Amino acid sequence: MVSGPMKKIAVLTSGGDGPGMNAAIRSVVRCGLHYGVEVCGVMRGYQGLIDNDIIEMNHRSVSNIVNKGGTILKTARSKDFATDEGKQRAVEVLRKHQIDGLVVIGGDGSYLGASRLYHKFGFPTVGLPGTIDNDLHGTDQTIGCSTAINTALESIDKIRDTAQSMERIFVIEVMGNKSGYIAMEVAVAAGAEDVIIPEQIFDYEGMYSEIMSGNKKGKITWIVIVAEGAAKAQTVAETITKATGLETRCVVLGHVQRGGTPSGQDRILATRLGAAAVDLLLNGIYGKAVGVVQDEINVIDLADAKKRQFTHLDDHYQLLKILT
Ligand code: F6P
Repeated sequence: MVSGPMKKIAVLTSGGDGPGMNAAIRSVVRCGLHYGVEVCGVMRGYQGLIDNDIIEMNHRSVSNIVNKGGTILKTARSKDFATDEGKQRAVEVLRKHQIDGLVVIGGDGSYLGASRLYHKFGFPTVGLPGTIDNDLHGTDQTIGCSTAINTALESIDKIRDTAQSMERIFVIEVMGNKSGYIAMEVAVAAGAEDVIIPEQIFDYEGMYSEIMSGNKKGKITWIVIVAEGAAKAQTVAETITKATGLETRCVVLGHVQRGGTPSGQDRILATRLGAAAVDLLLNGIYGKAVGVVQDEINVIDLADAKKRQFTHLDDHYQLLKILT
């Protein structure tokens, strides 16, 4: 490890929070301190930079947070930072605090900001994939996704109990922004009967007739998972009732998926990536995003990390239909 000219680095969390962000902050802070650099925390993401809301961090600032959901640095979606003036102000604040490098933990919008800070304003940045959506290139999983899937499954398992007892159809909407990744994984793991995602054209008529013919054979309970980017659960539930005459209820899981104790997988991923981000900054490698691919640390340009398309979704859908 060569610390080069860097003496002080900062870390922020930006965009939608996700379980595991605290483990990432802890790793950045403690690895930075370990290698002899000062570490600051920026409150409320890029907005905190603009507002000069920066705190010094030490070993103890990150005690007892590895197991906590949310982010101790808080997070925001900053409109001010979207402008060039906002970014200019952010860089001025960073320089005023004599900060030499910035670790940004967030999703694609946060990566875009980090990329601009480096490429347009010359400020050294490194990105860590912190989003439940798992929609970024350069990493097999993003920090928060594994926990979000487990959280959704816990709820769906409970809904299945009441669905079976009362012989109802349930349409359950999960988060994921424009990606159907969470919905597909959750549907397979929950043993759902169907899943509607933005990446696939959905055969509504086919689903209605499957429900009707199943019903004739005594199958009353159906679980349909809907990705928020594909349709509204309420609309889907209403159309099922209209087409089949069967009682259908809807549940929107929403922000519950963003909270809670991070899974072991998310904590390990976040810890490894925090260390990798510090490593890059201290070795003078900037404008990059770190990830883990096939269990190895992977580094790509921030600009290349935007919206990922999955190739396994059709296969998973086939599997789901075979199994149900
Ligand atoms: O990107 C994470 C995410 O939770 C998405 O799944 C969702 O579409 C979005 O954030 C919701 O954002 P907000 O909390 O700002 O409504």
